[in-house]
Amino acid sequence: MESPSAQTDSWSPSNYSYHARFVSTIPQDLVSLLSPKSHERILDIGCGDGVLTFQIQQMCKECIGIDKSSRMVEAARAAGCKDVRVVDGGRLKEWAISEGFEGTFDAVFSNAALHWIKNQEAVVEGIRTCLKLGGRLVLEMGGKGNVQVIEKSMASALDKRGYNGASLSPWVFPSQETYSSLLTNASFQISSINLFPRPTKLPTDLRGWIDTFGHLYIQNLDDKEKEDVINEVIEMCKPEVYNEKDGSWTIMYVRLRVIAYLV
Ligand code: BEZ
Repeated sequence: MESPSAQTDSWSPSNYSYHARFVSTIPQDLVSLLSPKSHERILDIGCGDGVLTFQIQQMCKECIGIDKSSRMVEAARAAGCKDVRVVDGGRLKEWAISEGFEGTFDAVFSNAALHWIKNQEAVVEGIRTCLKLGGRLVLEMGGKGNVQVIEKSMASALDKRGYNGASLSPWVFPSQETYSSLLTNASFQISSINLFPRPTKLPTDLRGWIDTFGHLYIQNLDDKEKEDVINEVIEMCKPEVYNEKDGSWTIMYVRLRVIAYLV
């Protein structure tokens, strides 16, 4: 299937590693929840720079990590991951069919990735296609209310400049109810589904976070407008996100965590 070209790939593995290492260090218990077995074949959707993928690969027979960003896939390879591929999670079903992977995975895992895929029906259908009957899905993603102050500030700064800010958001943060129906309608039985806050202290600052994760939001703006929007967003978020006492920045993440089985 067609790979996203490197030219349109605005992900930066070095930014990710410097400003956002917590993405793979905080949810270590998600790998414990997945509990990979030595005979299993596992698919990791949105493997990023491969920190969790590498761990899973040590624990099971085979784990394929996929990511839409060729740069992140290269970083995952450099980190020692054995099988990582450039695949758009929104086109998972087509990929699984073209590779002959239908019904071949014991488990599908995903951390902090699915909220980047606008078409959630397509990704759930793709997961259903990949899993064996009885196979499990273990995922964590941004849920309703996630990084709300940033999303609202971005939308407001973009609206002010004549864009439809909300429509430019690259993120989807579903509620428990929405995700439960989505999975149930796709033949999944939900074992647990939880939405919970996770205030996250940034290793650097909000500027670093926006440089790492906000690039798709403002990709159509020219450089001057990008800079103005970023500065305005930082100012708008500051009262909620910045701690004057110690100079730290804390964003309110909200996680949606799901364990479900294909029945
Ligand atoms: C998240 O992991 O929740 C997230 C990361 C970057 C942008 C938006 C959400």
